[in-house]
Amino acid sequence: MSFETWIGTDINEATSWLQKGELVAIPTETVYGLAGNALDEKAAVKIFDTKDRPLYNPLIVHVANADQASSLVQEWDEEVQALMDAFWPGPMTLLLDRSPAVPDLVCAGLDRVALRMPDHDLTLALIEQCGFPLAAPSANLFGRISPTTAGHVFGQLDHLIPYILDGGPCRVGVESTILGRENSRWKIYRAGGITQSELEPIIGYTEAINASDRPAAPGMLPWHYAPRTPLALNHPPRNSGDRIGWLRFSSLSPVVPGERQFVLAPDGDLHTAARRLYAGLHELDALGLDFLVAEPVPDSGIGRAINDRLKRAAAVRPE
Ligand code: TXA
Ligand code: MG
Repeated sequence: MSFETWIGTDINEATSWLQKGELVAIPTETVYGLAGNALDEKAAVKIFDTKDRPLYNPLIVHVANADQASSLVQEWDEEVQALMDAFWPGPMTLLLDRSPAVPDLVCAGLDRVALRMPDHDLTLALIEQCGFPLAAPSANLFGRISPTTAGHVFGQLDHLIPYILDGGPCRVGVESTILGRENSRWKIYRAGGITQSELEPIIGYTEAINASDRPAAPGMLPWHYAPRTPLALNHPPRNSGDRIGWLRFSSLSPVVPGERQFVLAPDGDLHTAARRLYAGLHELDALGLDFLVAEPVPDSGIGRAINDRLKRAAAVRPE
């Protein structure tokens, strides 16, 4: 199906499309999501089709209040409650045992559902108004760069969806931290907007798993978030060609003619780098250069999430 894609700030318009079973791109504090009614399997099918996403890769369900959360999962204990109290609304996704209300497809047949309450007023109001939770993966085509502005979404999904709810540029800029328990021990499946050291006062030491080693956390494919222009970490390969785009952490470096650079955080702050990461990749990618080279950022705090995304963006995808 082909749509004329509108961008706007009208929650009523967004609600009416979602109630009809169509998809709307929504702003969150992390990245824009491609949302549909999480309780409607047909809407979930549209999400997978529109993104060209494989069906084995489950979707995060976004809620606006505790009642919605509790309708989607089995009971939760005090530790889970403490996490919700500390980080919701915010960039933390919890994997919890799901209730029968969640369609199989949304969880790719797994026993757990991924839940989060996004920290964005427009989207919280939208979910309240719809009255149902929203399943929403990031609003990019499968494997490509995540969107942090309405314009990024339009660039990839023009004609594929009727409406993009414009909530401005995303405040955090990298996806949520995904967290779950295995045999009563907490694991971090994806580094994200909430850091390990922020979590530890509540749940103690948590193991960060490199989920790409273990496709049990399916979306964590080793290649992901990729620009069209080939990307390497640190150094260009020998045969990269002349026109290179550099993604720098905090300062410009001398370049040769034909090269371009984007500085993630002129102020040296990792949060600034996270916020500008995808915009930098989108911008360099649009220049049609031969090769992109990313400088890893300091590997602490939210820097871990940034380096994780850069590594995946640089990984070679299977044909
Ligand atoms: O910040 C975010 O999390 C954004 C915004 C839109 O909320 N969403 C996002 O969704 O990043 P997506 O689909 O691009 O990434 C979701 C990740 C995938 O790696 C997926 O495999 C994993 O979450 N996931 C979702 N449901 C899961 C489940 N039931 N069990 C294990 N992993 C799950
Ligand atoms: Mg994604």
